[in-house]
Amino acid sequence: MTQPATRRTVLATGAAALAAGCVGCGGDNGSGSSGGTKLTAVSDIPEGGGKVFRDQKVVVTQPAKGEFRAFSAICTHEGCTVDQVADGTIDCPCHGSRFHIADGSVAHGPATRPLPKKSIKVEGNSILLT
Ligand code: FES
Repeated sequence: MTQPATRRTVLATGAAALAAGCVGCGGDNGSGSSGGTKLTAVSDIPEGGGKVFRDQKVVVTQPAKGEFRAFSAICTHEGCTVDQVADGTIDCPCHGSRFHIADGSVAHGPATRPLPKKSIKVEGNSILLT
């Protein structure tokens, strides 16, 4: 006869997962799945530059070797999609706003607000959207 999980057991398990800060890391289910969606390969993101993923509306940058950042690709001025990363900035084609690749902050208006950060993680040679 199997014992159904008690409410206390379920809560304790949930708390343990939260405490570990590793929900979806695959430790419990043995799948090894990271819970993220593969976006690109590490080698696709140039050091000191970045790349725009129009479909996912995300821009991934590598401001310093081995450091990856991701931001929304939607310009905070009027909502165009940024279209390139060049000379240390993420550039919007509509009215010329530029954002720093390191933190998404405004380098050049008319935008006044930074690009919102997106969550990514590097796993092996892959960059995953989490
Ligand atoms: S929408 Fe990007 S600069 Fe205006």
